[in-house]
Amino acid sequence: MKSKHLLSIMDVSPEEISDLIKSGLQFKESPVGSDLIGKSAALIFEKPSLRTKVSFDVAVTQLGGHPIYLSKDEIGLGTREPISDVARTLSRFVDIIVLRTFSQNNLRDLSDYASVPVINALSDQEHPCQALADLLTIYEKFNGFENIKIAYIGDGNNVAVSLALAAASVGIDFVIASPPQYSIPTNIVEEINKRSLQSNANFSVTSSPSEAVSGANVVYTDVWISMGQEEESDDKLKIFSGFQVNESLLSSTDSSTIFMHPLPAHNEQEISKGLLEHPKSVVFDQAENRLHIQKAILANIIR
Ligand code: NVA
Repeated sequence: MKSKHLLSIMDVSPEEISDLIKSGLQFKESPVGSDLIGKSAALIFEKPSLRTKVSFDVAVTQLGGHPIYLSKDEIGLGTREPISDVARTLSRFVDIIVLRTFSQNNLRDLSDYASVPVINALSDQEHPCQALADLLTIYEKFNGFENIKIAYIGDGNNVAVSLALAAASVGIDFVIASPPQYSIPTNIVEEINKRSLQSNANFSVTSSPSEAVSGANVVYTDVWISMGQEEESDDKLKIFSGFQVNESLLSSTDSSTIFMHPLPAHNEQEISKGLLEHPKSVVFDQAENRLHIQKAILANIIR
């Protein structure tokens, strides 16, 4: 990778995304590698995590490295110690820093002072590792990215932003159906449009879920209330009530259409009860691919 860090999908070129997908597929075939032998990775998580934390831990271990998990309270990023000091200290011990944090600015500050690569394991603005794993899943399910349309239903959040940027990079059409005030931020739309133009993809926004899923190969949703937004719950539950992915919405799609969700999912909020078990659901294949893509990211960023 040209960029030293992976803070955003904007840090990786369309060619690099394709290479990461190929590398992820190779790691799926052959799970153990030697890329991190003798190396250590600090995994700092300021928010809860199941898939990201475990997949990074296992990925580092299976590449021969040593993962060190650090919680919010242990480190106190910016409270117990300035981010710049944490970055400079950790860079003397470890070879990679993985950070899940509340603010994208924390990632920028950390990477400004770190002399080792920093990977965004989710922030308020982006979830690039999730988006790359999702592309890997879509690639596997459809044997490539030709003539694919993703319909994203719900909040224009970190997951939506990274996925829309990643889709635009590889020529996948993307439509988001959301309440207008919760669509993807306009500065990001500019970058999506730029990448879409280069890859010949189509990006659009709507407030109609049924319009969005028409002709979609992938129906995707995520939580309405992301970690850190809990005090907005009452308002958001009301605003998003018409944006649930359910049996009736999926029944209007083609038999080959797949349903994706990064998890954790909330029954009777963004999905109806039982949707993870729907025949179109690929959510656990999607979760598994987090492990394969984390290895691709780690192996490529360390080079
Ligand atoms: N948008 C969600 C994603 C969780 C994987 C959040 O930030 O909480």
